[in-house]
Amino acid sequence: MVDVILNSNSDKGLINRNIYGHFSEHLGRCIYEGLWVGEDSPIPNTDGIRNDVLTALQKLNIPVLRWPGGCFADEYHWKDGVGPKSERARMINNNWGGVEENNHFGTHEFLRLCELLGTEPYISGNLGSGTVQEMQQWVEYITFDGESPMANWRKSNGREKPWKLTYFGVGNENWGCGGNMRPEYYADEYRRYSTYVRNYSDNRIFKIACGPNEDNYEWTEVLMREAARFMDGLSLHYYTLPTGNWQDKGEATGFDEAAWFRTLKRTLHMEELIVKHSEIMDKYDPENKVALIIDEWGTWYNVEPGTNPGFLYQQNTMRDALVAGINLNLFNNYNKRVQMANLAQIVNVLQALVLTEGERMLLTPTYHVFDMYQVHMDAQRLELNYESPAYTFGDETIPQLSLSASRNAEGVVHVTACNLSHTDELEVVCRLDSFQTSDAASVSGRILHHDDFGAYNTFEEPNRVQLADWSDLSLENNELRFTLPPASVGVIALKA
Ligand code: AHR
Repeated sequence: MVDVILNSNSDKGLINRNIYGHFSEHLGRCIYEGLWVGEDSPIPNTDGIRNDVLTALQKLNIPVLRWPGGCFADEYHWKDGVGPKSERARMINNNWGGVEENNHFGTHEFLRLCELLGTEPYISGNLGSGTVQEMQQWVEYITFDGESPMANWRKSNGREKPWKLTYFGVGNENWGCGGNMRPEYYADEYRRYSTYVRNYSDNRIFKIACGPNEDNYEWTEVLMREAARFMDGLSLHYYTLPTGNWQDKGEATGFDEAAWFRTLKRTLHMEELIVKHSEIMDKYDPENKVALIIDEWGTWYNVEPGTNPGFLYQQNTMRDALVAGINLNLFNNYNKRVQMANLAQIVNVLQALVLTEGERMLLTPTYHVFDMYQVHMDAQRLELNYESPAYTFGDETIPQLSLSASRNAEGVVHVTACNLSHTDELEVVCRLDSFQTSDAASVSGRILHHDDFGAYNTFEEPNRVQLADWSDLSLENNELRFTLPPASVGVIALKA
């Protein structure tokens, strides 16, 4: 049993809704097939975007969506992707399988998708192989409300009014696929390119610099020292590989207990990364003006057997649900610096929310975690005090319990909880300080659990892993009691 103290009046700042963001790259079957089927497809669609996926994603109230990459972004030339589709340039997707990119999904289509989802666009610009002028003109094309060459071109392509665009990334992974730059060189390039990413009309851009890969603290140090005053956000990328070995990452399904444990241990490393990068940021930005933007995170396994290795298609099990739950709890709990996160990636790639096959679609366990956790968006974080029991495997130990809590504008307190142990249930007693229970007080919850920790959904059996009502909860004398089954993720709502 574990004792937890939850102070329901302890406002620890807002949990930025953008922590629940996603990422869509021109990679494998994410954009084409996953999101975009084209207006003439037999698959029911709205302006070319498939309706089944759209409806599923709308339910998550996705706050922000990153596009077009990833590595793709630094080879993407946006002018190839506007105007009549029949005239759009065909290019090679050099990063992902060398397949043809016909540019049918471009700026207008992406921004239409965002409108349909009610989400804020986050566009990654091309610093690696594009020009400063090209980047400047993209922002002008999208946001300028007046007469100008780019605004006029946009109008002639069918969009009279500008779009609102807040989030703009000035390059992606420029330490790697985005140009193999040294931090000093990128910092200067960032300063130059970002100068021309302008605020047109009443649009205000939040500029995001390419940040470190994993524990590259030197990158953060140099970027913060040389360019912090020119940026609003600094990105961080960290992927969870069960083996930690890029040559053989481990399988998405059919894993054993050791791989379960190792994966969760590796995903918990995110906390150390947030803490250490934040310490460097604090040194150069004590007023906390620059946000930490974790715009690529999630599991990365060997691809599904028989699929294109360049397409990064993988299945998604209860283990991915735990990875999602643990990381989202961490992001909530470090809400001071972490202002956005984007899971990689939204459909058919890496730790996806949704998988498609022809006209069929399924929701992954990860989808259900995002569904449960959306209650934290823009809510006040609440303080939790507890000492987690240890989860030991072999001679290694990690915490068994992961938690976060918040109070929304209506005063409802939400607790999200993960039990990392694959064998032991966990009884939790949570003392609610400053919680005024009335006669009408209520507690309810939902939980994701399966007796098989490797369970996943297939097109034949799409509801094998699904959310259930969590009835085994009690609230009495300001004490909340619940039991988490092994390998489970849940959400509890408390109304005073
Ligand atoms: O998400 C897949 C790839 O991972 C992205 O394109 C790149 O930014 C990262 O290395």
